[in-house]
Amino acid sequence: MTTRVLTGITTSGTPHLGNYAGAIRPSIQTSELPGVDAFYFMADYHALIKCDDPQRIARSRLEIAATWIAAGLDADKVTLYRQSDVPEIPELCWMLTCVTPKGLMNRAHAYKASVDQNVARQAEPDDGVDMGLFSYPILMAADILMFNARKVPVGRDQVQHLEMARDIAQRFNHLYGGGQDFFVLPEVQIDDEVATLPGLDGRKMSKSYDNTIPLFEGGAKATRAAVARIVTDSREPGQPKDAEGSHLYTLYRAFATPQESLQFRRELEQGMGWGDAKNQLCDRIELELAPMRERYAELMAKPQRIEEILQAGAAKARKISAPFMAQLRAAVGLRPAVVSAAQDKAGKTKAEKKARFVSFRDEEGQFRFRLLDAAGNELLLSSAFANPKAAGEVIKRLQNEELDGFVVQAGEAAVLRVGEVEVGRLEAAALPAVREAIASLSAAE
Ligand code: TRP
Repeated sequence: MTTRVLTGITTSGTPHLGNYAGAIRPSIQTSELPGVDAFYFMADYHALIKCDDPQRIARSRLEIAATWIAAGLDADKVTLYRQSDVPEIPELCWMLTCVTPKGLMNRAHAYKASVDQNVARQAEPDDGVDMGLFSYPILMAADILMFNARKVPVGRDQVQHLEMARDIAQRFNHLYGGGQDFFVLPEVQIDDEVATLPGLDGRKMSKSYDNTIPLFEGGAKATRAAVARIVTDSREPGQPKDAEGSHLYTLYRAFATPQESLQFRRELEQGMGWGDAKNQLCDRIELELAPMRERYAELMAKPQRIEEILQAGAAKARKISAPFMAQLRAAVGLRPAVVSAAQDKAGKTKAEKKARFVSFRDEEGQFRFRLLDAAGNELLLSSAFANPKAAGEVIKRLQNEELDGFVVQAGEAAVLRVGEVEVGRLEAAALPAVREAIASLSAAE
């Protein structure tokens, strides 16, 4: 039993330390668990919603892919791809758009926040809102449902999107499933162990607050420079510090073992200066990041290598999405106007299984036949014939003449006699089934 786990990262920026600890590192850990079939992707169509700078989009796709790989993701084990390399995703997005109530989208937090802001400043409610932002949750549902992911690890801000994906999936299943469900209902996965890092100012680390610590860009120097800017209180070296309330300690814990963290905390409480604490934090972060930073630089210097990995990932993903999309297209009525001869034939053998005579050689080398009904049940087993021709002639007569003419009744049992030959014995009650099977055979010819 494997569980398909899927998550995406929007490619609108350069990954920072918060992205690493909050999304990239845990996704890699999850992908290494036994029984996990991980699907990870760059949500580059989603990036177009927030960002109209083509260079930034292009660069971010590369950076996020390189980060994932440099941080240890095994691209052979997981399916790693760009959303825009799987054309079935936007195709599914449209099908889902057509079954999504507008009212459901009106309730999306991101859209509502924009409307609230507009109303507060007395602008038109939908001022600056484009259809990408409005339909954002439908594209996300398509990402998830395309691969029938069971678990979707995301941040708390995405919980509502997962609920919407379930709603939309259920609606599609109900409308088009015909009793069979096309889509698994995905479950959100919120991991309390995963660190949400504070930024330089103590608020959640986020590009929109401009308070991030870089991950790889700028090298160790840039990381140190950012850490130096983390806001602390004004306690001097020698004065005991409130470790629990300091962002430095929260950051340290995200990179250290429990013992190391305890030690760090004690030292702060015993008066370690903020400068020393920042140095310790940097050293600890470097221990984890330095080898990755090197791999990252190598990858970024060879974008061709990244491209190859992502193309292979897209091919892997499309092995699933392409045939699934063919099924979905058929389900909604987007079918070919004429069924090809090959499809027709394949359809027939499957749909119209019929009764048949089956000849075989028994253990003594004699020739016999069976009459089977459409479901493959044996209705009659013949007596033995010396040669296949004799058996064939009997079959022919059974097919072409009235069955009753061959029946020699003997109470509960019936004997079938063709000319001089006793062909077989069966229960009299089975005669109607035999008659029906033979009739269906001649009708089919
Ligand atoms: N909306 C997600 C975010 O901003 C990114 C994303 C897009 C995603 N499609 C997804 C996450 C599908 C999980 C599954 O974090």
